[in-house]
Amino acid sequence: MRGFIFVLLLFNIVFFSGTNKLKGQIPEQNQTCLKCHTSQTFTLYNDWTEREEKRLMNPLYILDTLQLAMGVHSSFNCIDCHSMDYETYPHNGELKLEPMMTCIDCHGGDETYASWKFDEIQEEFHKSVHYELYGDQFSCSKCHSQHYYRPVATVSSSLQEIVRADNSMCLSCHDNMARYQLVSDTANLQVVQIHEWLPNQELHFNRVRCIECHTEVQDSLLVSHNIMRKEEATRNCVECHSENSMLQASLYRYQNLQARTDQNGFLAALSAGNSDLSDEYYVIGASRIPYLNLIYAIIFFATLGGIAIHTIFRILKK
Ligand code: HEC
Ligand code: HEC
Ligand code: HEC
Ligand code: HEC
Ligand code: HEC
Ligand code: HEC
Ligand code: HEC
Repeated sequence: MRGFIFVLLLFNIVFFSGTNKLKGQIPEQNQTCLKCHTSQTFTLYNDWTEREEKRLMNPLYILDTLQLAMGVHSSFNCIDCHSMDYETYPHNGELKLEPMMTCIDCHGGDETYASWKFDEIQEEFHKSVHYELYGDQFSCSKCHSQHYYRPVATVSSSLQEIVRADNSMCLSCHDNMARYQLVSDTANLQVVQIHEWLPNQELHFNRVRCIECHTEVQDSLLVSHNIMRKEEATRNCVECHSENSMLQASLYRYQNLQARTDQNGFLAALSAGNSDLSDEYYVIGASRIPYLNLIYAIIFFATLGGIAIHTIFRILKK
């Protein structure tokens, strides 16, 4: 098991350092906290028994340093957000009541971050079903960890990564009883059963985001934050499975991905001529897979080549 985790970690390091810039190193001061908050056990000095004792750490309070280092707030000291009193252990019980800052407390109305449209996002979020049901208790942090937050849709050049990261936010509750009950007392329904009507569910959940069907596309926002009531969710296949797919306006519009698609512009144009699919059967993604375009091109040129060789042999034979 440990070997497996190690390989996974190694893979993560190699993989992530290749595709993503590490935002920064974790400040040295944080080691005081991380000494305890990254391991399964910690040591404390017991004044009563006058010796060092080992204790188990609550697994949910163990932080992931790799994700910390990649997050937008990696340069922060822990005590920029948490009270300085945490420097001693046992932590003072009163600290449990310390109000935590929300994204808006720091980013709201700040010109420096205007391009992220925090205020507009909050407005949209306030219309969502989550806020309607649970109000401020459903904070931004329920979806975005302040420790690890990384704007994947803006920085990633991998559609797969964006879909995976975004869906895991929703699934962190809708597929996890413990976190779900942080806000609700009811049992959560099985995501798989709810979406039984959708064929090839696994493929869909790997290729599109929950928010594609559960929010209305907002032209002015990169990520729509108004999760609508379930009655308003998209069930209409044609909204995606058509040439004029709504995904062009949401998932596929990210500039970071656009650049990549443009590189294949020539080949895409080529394959479009080849695969004259009717509108109804146009499968989105078909002309977006670079390799597929390449294969189309290879087949196209191989066919031309075949005809040429054939013709030459015929002429020679004559
Ligand atoms: C000696 C080990 C140790 C050190 C050092 C330590 N912590 Fe903790 N921390 C714990 C343990 C254990 C808990 C679980 C709750 C408890 O026992 O109080 C905890 C809980 C917490 C919590 C959650 C409190 C709650 O119950 O909601 C926060 C926040 C926290 N620590 C922040 C920090 C910060 C920030 C630092 C560094 C300035 C730090 N800790 C240093 C061991 C430590
Ligand atoms: C940008 C602000 C910010 C920074 C920096 C930060 N934290 Fe937190 N931390 C929070 C917030 C907000 C919560 C409460 C999360 C929630 O309500 O879901 C939290 C919760 C925690 C918890 C409780 C467990 C949990 O996830 O709810 C621990 C433990 C903790 N922080 C430790 C640390 C340590 C150690 C560092 C330094 C490496 C650190 N934090 C840096 C904002 C921050
Ligand atoms: C305690 C104040 C504070 C809180 C709370 C906070 N941030 Fe930040 N955030 C900052 C600061 C300061 C920076 C700039 C950090 C840097 O440049 O190293 C930043 C950077 C960012 C950036 C990158 C901005 C850029 O232009 O590169 C994003 C995105 C971001 N935060 C999102 C969030 C989200 C989402 C939340 C809530 C989950 C949040 N922040 C909570 C203070 C905060
Ligand atoms: C129900 C879950 C959820 C809640 C609650 C939520 N968000 Fe988001 N948010 C998302 C998802 C999903 C994304 C897309 C993530 C990505 O790939 O960057 C996102 C992206 C963002 C972005 C990046 C947008 C960009 O231009 O890349 C910001 C900033 C942001 N959220 C701020 C907030 C703020 C502020 C709040 C609270 C008012 C909030 N979010 C509440 C799910 C949520
Ligand atoms: C903090 C946990 C949490 C997170 C994260 C979360 N949800 Fe929810 N969600 C809930 C709870 C709790 C309900 C309320 C269920 C109820 O009582 O009907 C809910 C309800 C819903 C509903 C049903 C609304 C209705 O009409 O009944 C939809 C759809 C939904 N969430 C989608 C999402 C999507 C999409 C995301 C990710 C962007 C997400 N949720 C993230 C906890 C969460
Ligand atoms: C192809 C579109 C589509 C996608 C993708 C999708 N959903 Fe749904 N979802 C729906 C529709 C339509 C309903 C309403 C189903 C019904 O009422 O029977 C629904 C219902 C729900 C409900 C309400 C359950 C209830 O009855 O209270 C939740 C929660 C939910 N989805 C979460 C998610 C999450 C989480 C994801 C991402 C992993 C996701 N959905 C992806 C279309 C979608
Ligand atoms: C939110 C957009 C969206 C909606 C709504 C949607 N799909 Fe899809 N569907 C996709 C994507 C994206 C793929 C993956 C296409 C690819 O990568 O080739 C896919 C793949 C499929 C596939 C597999 C095609 C293959 O190549 O194997 C089938 C079958 C399918 N969808 C049927 C449906 C049906 C039936 C509905 C309505 C009940 C539906 N879809 C609704 C986006 C959507």
